[in-house]
Amino acid sequence: MAEKITLAVLNGRDQTGFVQLIGPVFEHSPWIAEMTWSQKPFVDFENLYRALCETVNASGEAKQLALIRAHPDLVGRAALAGTLTSASTNEQASAGLSQLSSEEIQLFQTQNAAYQEKFGFPFVICARLNKKEAILKGFELRLKNSRESEIVTALVEIFKIAELRLRDLLST
Ligand code: GUN
Repeated sequence: MAEKITLAVLNGRDQTGFVQLIGPVFEHSPWIAEMTWSQKPFVDFENLYRALCETVNASGEAKQLALIRAHPDLVGRAALAGTLTSASTNEQASAGLSQLSSEEIQLFQTQNAAYQEKFGFPFVICARLNKKEAILKGFELRLKNSRESEIVTALVEIFKIAELRLRDLLST
């Protein structure tokens, strides 16, 4: 992993430099770092993390859906083809998803398709905090929910993913 950065260094970055460092905390969604930068200086980890999440919460449903849709399927086409971002590759591997049988791969694909079909966006769960069994259980339970509640849940999971990525990045 690259050397960790301090908040002091981060607070000294111009917008481009800040987005280079913090952009990847949200999958394929550098606009979140871009829109949060002007709130610097950030006094501690929590202050920065909350500001990033608040940018998402205040951004409206269209942008929130774009953020959810920027996430790759677990055991999806990109995962199988090896074209995920390095963060996503590590996250999926940490849940044990890089070592599935062909039956399990098939099951993930069936569930991904059912979820996408019902809600119109991919199933997002923080892969670093869940193993294969918990993720499969999550599909079963969450497929019963309403679209509104799944949007909220997906954003909560994305905030967990972001917190872990941000902790990897920062020394504070
Ligand atoms: N899609 C569903 N869960 C995850 C996750 O934890 N990380 C990434 N990158 N994509 C996901």
